[in-house]
Order: sequence, then C-alpha cells, then structure tokens
Amino acid sequence: MTLSKAIVTSRLDRPVKYYESIGSTNDAAKAWLEAGAPDRAAVVANAQSRGRGRKGRAWQTPPDAALALSVILRPQRHLVPQVNFLGALAVCDLAAEAGCSMIGIKWPNDVQVNGKKIAGILPEVVWEGPEALGVVLGIGLNVRIDFSRSELADTATSLESIVNRRLDRADLLQSLLGHVDGWYSHINEEILFRSWKSRLNMLGARIEVEDLVGRAADVLPDGSLLLRDSFGALHTVEAGDVFVVKEGGAGA
Ligand code: BTN
Repeated sequence: MTLSKAIVTSRLDRPVKYYESIGSTNDAAKAWLEAGAPDRAAVVANAQSRGRGRKGRAWQTPPDAALALSVILRPQRHLVPQVNFLGALAVCDLAAEAGCSMIGIKWPNDVQVNGKKIAGILPEVVWEGPEALGVVLGIGLNVRIDFSRSELADTATSLESIVNRRLDRADLLQSLLGHVDGWYSHINEEILFRSWKSRLNMLGARIEVEDLVGRAADVLPDGSLLLRDSFGALHTVEAGDVFVVKEGGAGA
C-alpha cells in the first residue's frame, strides 16, 4: 500500500501532518513544535527535497521508496539527551520484525544490517531561550532505494533488498511509531541506554574518529564515545564519523 494522507491519518493514533513532498520533515516538525504540537505528534513525507542528515549533509528521500518522518517528543528537561537512543532502537526492532539479522547501530546512530546503513537518525532539540521546548526525532529509512549503481553501493542498502520481498510502507510506518512509543515509555529507565549500547557494533574495535585512532572502549549515558589511544589515554568524543581500522595498522 502506498502512503497517502488518508492512510497515514487513519492508521496513526496521534496528530499527523502528511506531505507528498516537503523540504525536510524535521524543519516542519520544528515549526509545529514551536506552534504547540503535542507530545508524539508526527510529520511524515513521501519525498523530501532538502532532507538533512548529520553534519549538514544531504539526505535523499526519493518518492515512494523510503520512510521519512519526524516525531515530536516533549520529555522532561533532564531526559532530553535520552531521545538520542529511541529512533535507532525502534528501527532495529522494525528490521528484526521484517526478518533481518545482523542488525547493529554504528555509533552514533546509524542503523546497519550486514554492515550497511539502512537508516539514519537526526534528533534535534528545539530551544526557547534556555528551555528545551522538545525534541524533533527525525528518522529516514531506506525501504526500496536502489543503491547498486550509486557511490553508496558499498555502504548503504534498503530493507526490501535484504528481506527480498515487497514491504508495505504504511505497515512499516505504523509499526515503527509503535516501537518509538514503546522505547519512549522507558525514557526514564536504564534499559533504554543499556539496549542502545548492546546494539552498538563497534565497541572493542580499533577505530578512527575525529582524527583520533584507538579502541572504542565504551559509551557514556549521554551517548558520548570513549576511545582509548595507544598510550592508554581515554578521549571522550561527542560526535563524529567512525571508521573501523584494520588491526595491525597505524595507531593503537
Ligand atoms: C544521518 O544519518 O545523517 C541522519 C539522517 C536523518 C534523515 C531523516 S529523514 C526524516 C528527517 N528529516 C530530515 O531532513 N532528516 C531526517
């Protein structure tokens, strides 16, 4: 079943704004949050013309081929950093439900299957002065984007090409939001962080991140990565792109 305003609004148990095409669902959700959107409201689009990824990168959402959504969450102020974990865990659950194995989270928040990215997560806090109004949790899931002839062929993939069957995007959307709700109900509990950590697929590996090389030693409850360099010193990395380094190469 294709996505449409009627399907999305009738099947989702929350206020929803649906767009056939929009610049970025995160931008629309931020504006809605500022205008008073309720907790759990969602913005969904069939296509994005200016989808955004981490570090200001472009995120492709061609029509009829992906899920692009932003969930508006209004957790208590001190729980805002925990939102970072929700989207990736919800996508992991969805991928498992669809029949994928070898599911992992590449720090900070890429969901991978068999080492290739199927989804990206972009949580953005909306501030009103010093107060956090809430968080816009952007999720982009590749459902049937063909990467085979693209420069991303070695690093990105789509859910349908893994499970080898046609999937219904309306079902996927409904299920994904159910998993977001499920994890959101644990936002005040340690299980959220522990589950996210247990899905990370590079802990213990030799990695390069932000010009540092060393071993991915651990993660902190705020989502930061601890890297141990060849001298044994620990570095805290808040954000960056991780590359796994072959054992025996330069560095730690
Ligand atoms: C990343 O991996 O860099 C994060 C990608 C996040 C993409 C999603 S698609 C829905 C939402 N709207 C956006 O503009 N970005 C996020």
